[in-house]
Order: sequence, then C-alpha cells, then structure tokens
Amino acid sequence: MSLPRAYARTEADETVEVTMTVNGSATTLSLPSRVTLSDALRDHLGLTGTHVGCEHGICGMCTILVDGEAARACLLLAVQLDGAEITTVEGLGRQDDLHPLQEAFGRHHALQCGFCTPGFLMSSYDLLSHQPDVRTEDLPAELSGVLCRCTGYRNIVDAVDDVAQAHRDGIPGPGNCAARTLVGRTPAGAAATVAVDAVDAVDPGEDGGRHPDEITLPVGEPTITVDVTSELESGPEDVARVFGDIRLLARCLPGAELTDELGHDWYRGRARISLGPVRLSFQGMAHILEQHDDRVVMRGQGKDTGGGGAQAHIVMTAAPSGSGVSLHAEARVFLTGRIAGFGRSLAGDVSRRMFEEFARALDRAAAGAEPDAHSRPPGAVSILVGALSDRFRQRLARLRAGRRRRTP
Ligand code: FES
Ligand code: FES
Repeated sequence: MSLPRAYARTEADETVEVTMTVNGSATTLSLPSRVTLSDALRDHLGLTGTHVGCEHGICGMCTILVDGEAARACLLLAVQLDGAEITTVEGLGRQDDLHPLQEAFGRHHALQCGFCTPGFLMSSYDLLSHQPDVRTEDLPAELSGVLCRCTGYRNIVDAVDDVAQAHRDGIPGPGNCAARTLVGRTPAGAAATVAVDAVDAVDPGEDGGRHPDEITLPVGEPTITVDVTSELESGPEDVARVFGDIRLLARCLPGAELTDELGHDWYRGRARISLGPVRLSFQGMAHILEQHDDRVVMRGQGKDTGGGGAQAHIVMTAAPSGSGVSLHAEARVFLTGRIAGFGRSLAGDVSRRMFEEFARALDRAAAGAEPDAHSRPPGAVSILVGALSDRFRQRLARLRAGRRRRTP
C-alpha cells in the first residue's frame, strides 16, 4: 500500500480528508496525517473493539481486515486507507446473531480477560477465509501473530479448529456490515472531524440513498439510561393526537426540530442544546419503529458539529391515569465526544430533565396550545442548572441525614 503523493508532506497541524468504507459504511474523516488507523477507528469513529497493545506491530491486538486481508491497524496511517474497505471486529457479527467464530470462542471459553479476543477473532477469520482446510496441528503456528497475555491458547486453538472443521467449504462472511451512519467522536484537542452526513454519500438505503436501512446501536452499556414517568393533565385521546403527529411530537423536545421527511418513517432533524458554556448543535436522523395511539418507539442518531455523537433508542407509552395520562419514557442513550465528557451521572440528570420538559410541552400540545419548548430552544441552560440544583439538594439532604444519625 503506497502513500498517495498528495499526502507525502503535510504540516503537523494540517488535516487530510480520507474516505473509507468501514464495516459497510462509507465515512469521510478529516484528520492529521500522523493518525494511525487504530486511533482513527477508536477515537474518531468510536469503534473501540479494535484493541491497542504494543502499538508497534508485535502483539496483534489491533488486527483488522483491509480489503479482505488481515493487517495491523497500529502500523497503518489512516490517510493511507483512502478508498479502502475496512472490517473491524464490530463488523463480524451482531449481538443477536454472532459469527460462528464468536460463538465458538464463547463455547470453548477461549478468553479470560478478553483483551486479545478481537485480534484473535479477526486473525482467525482471515486464516479460515484464506485456508478453510487448515490442519489442526498447524493452528498454533498460524495463529501465533496474536499474543494472549492470559495464555489461554489451548481453548483459542480449539475454538478456531471447531469452526474450521464445521466450515471446510469456507466460513460465513462478516455478518454486521451494512450502511449506517458512524457516530464519530473527537478526543479533546485533536484536530479531526467526521463528515456529518456520511450516510448521504454512501448508503443506497430503501429510499434512493436518503436514509440507512436501520440505525444500529453500539454494543455494550449505554452511556445513559432514562426511565421516567410524568403525569399529564390531558386525556388519552388528546395525547394520542400528539403521538400521531411526529412533527408536533418533535417540537415538544427542547431545541429539536424536524427539517425533512425522508419517507418510510424516516426524518431528518436538528437539535440545539446549550449546557452552560458548551453549545451543541446536533444534526441527524430519526426512524419511527412503532407509532400507535399509546406507544411510540423510535431510534435516532446525530452528530454534533464539534465531533460528538449521540444515538438513542426511545420508547414512550401513555396509559390512562385518573382523568389524565401517565407518560412513561425509557431511553438508552449512547454518547461520544465532548458531551460524553459530562460524565454519566450528570448527563443522565440532564437527559431526565429534558424528558420532564418534553412531558410538560407534550401536555400543552395535547391541550391544543403551542408546545413552546421550540419557541425557547436551547433552554437547556436551565435544564443543566436544574439538574445541578437537584444534585446539590440531594447531597444536602444526605449530609443532614448523616448529621442527624451522628447526633445522640
Ligand atoms: S497494537 Fe498493533 S500489533 Fe500490537
Ligand atoms: S484473554 Fe487476556 S490477553 Fe488473551
């Protein structure tokens, strides 16, 4: 792989644009030419499944596929990969539909701390896709390019052998490569951005490339989980009317606005949030998965112009309660970039406050009034202040309770 001439000399603070297809999604990154592929994947695309151990080509932890061949991501500069097709461990299988290698590693307990596992999975995938008839006795040597510090080699070899025996005609390809928007993240101080709308450039989608086939959430624990219930004065029919009008529903969310209807229940929109000195301006997409009178399920993802990203799965239900409605919202929110730097706990408080604001605006919209959350958009300053005062009050209450217990 040769370094393109145009990139041969760049200043240290100069950024270079590179477009590559990562796990089936084309993405354009703008980053300094010194950034390695492993750092680009982890820090700029949030694909932290690619582990980094030695950073000089010895341990194999960072093994990924470049144009179908195993490569050390720590030894490649991202700018070398313009036009390349990259597959990382995230592309191998889905949480609900694992690749045979992932299943076999689980079955054989072929991991202890798991740090080497992505490297072994990608390296063994490369081996079996090129040599499906590899002999059992050759496996230790063939897999010796990845080091396991926990030294669980016997089980790793057994797992790979199991898959080799079961797929002598060739192993199934990576099962989680599809066009989707990659949510980038920018480490503090790094001069890099992810193209905001990579999906437009790439994705054939159902609707002529205007939206991806689905929004896939990252695996693992969300940054925030929200589970809040608010009592509304409006009756079930009035709430059902708002649930049936996605534009109106969006206007109930502080700072949010739908800008485009893409068809097939896909919407494009933006959200502006100010949290103290930090101003976030998200652009993204939402997909309505279910829409009933008493239940709306949606997924959304967006990128902040500062390089942060958010993805969320939201379920809202409305149940009759007395003369009104009990509105329940559950959300799993994944954050990357500077907004994630707020910390889970404070970000969680802010999100819950936003849902409370949302519930109040929905109540107003159901009563036929302006939701008005949109007319005073980045009211999140007050949301942050409210969240901080909540914490202050909780801490004060805990202190007082502690003092009372100590007083005889
Ligand atoms: S981190 Fe790339 S080989 Fe060790
Ligand atoms: S399982 Fe710990 S490094 Fe391999």
